[in-house]
Amino acid sequence: MKLYDSTYMRESTHKLLILFNGSNESTWNRRHHMFILTLNNKLFLAPINNPKRVMDVGTGIGIWASYGLQLDLGDDVADVSQGRRRQVSGSRRTDLSPTFRATPAPNLLFEIDDCCSEWIYPPNHFDYVHVRFLYASIADWPAFYKECFDHIAPGGYIEHSEPRPDLLSDDGSIAPGDIMHQCSDLAKEASQNFGKNIMIAPHIKTMIEEAGFVNVVEKQYKWPIGEWPVDRKLKDIGRWNMQHWFEGLDAWTLRLLTQYCGVS
Ligand SMILES: C[S@@+](CC[C@H](N)C(=O)[O-])C[C@H]1O[C@@H](n2cnc3c(N)ncnc32)[C@H](O)[C@@H]1O
Repeated sequence: MKLYDSTYMRESTHKLLILFNGSNESTWNRRHHMFILTLNNKLFLAPINNPKRVMDVGTGIGIWASYGLQLDLGDDVADVSQGRRRQVSGSRRTDLSPTFRATPAPNLLFEIDDCCSEWIYPPNHFDYVHVRFLYASIADWPAFYKECFDHIAPGGYIEHSEPRPDLLSDDGSIAPGDIMHQCSDLAKEASQNFGKNIMIAPHIKTMIEEAGFVNVVEKQYKWPIGEWPVDRKLKDIGRWNMQHWFEGLDAWTLRLLTQYCGVS
């Protein structure tokens, strides 16, 4: 359905905050670039070694998976499992909607699937599962991580990155009660009413451990908004993030605040 110039899933099928609508492609590209800057030009941090089966869950336009195959994961991810549509599928990316862009890699398969339903893959199937920016998409995270655990082979890895939706300041310049706090508090409240809490970043490590994963490592990074940091890397991220907020804010908040928090 169309609302506020954005495309949303029909409520009768899947309740999603927002879907790809063409105009937010640059927002997603920008965010991908911010992740790459943050991780010092890496696509992932897990110490995966020669993985054969990789899945990028909720792949969006598929930018991570496409780059992953071309750059870091290497050509060894190949021809090792049966796809549902064709038989070449070393690396998979799944999504609820056909938002992906064409890929030159023959060993990369896009599948339309609901990651919140029971997974169709055999147990212990994947060496590595990548999850990024799925907040506001999943209601039952413990059930999701359980599916991940059951389908990752012993010795394999899950890597999950999410932003915190609330705005924090090191120096108190965003004081309690500030309009920025009010906005993020409303968004958190609205997301709970919506049924998919956007404040999951602080709970990821615990939930992943509770699903059965061991040796879980958590890393936190700052994403400044604007060019104000002195540090060159943070300044660069801040410049990208400022534009990311300008482009993304309507899509992130309009439906949430008006339909799920009574804001007009
Ligand atoms: C914000 S985008 C993130 C895309 C990508 N992970 C990235 O970091 O560039 C979230 C994506 O998750 C997909 N999604 C949401 N719920 C899903 C579900 N239950 N199963 C599969 N994909 C889902 C959406 O369609 C959307 O493409």
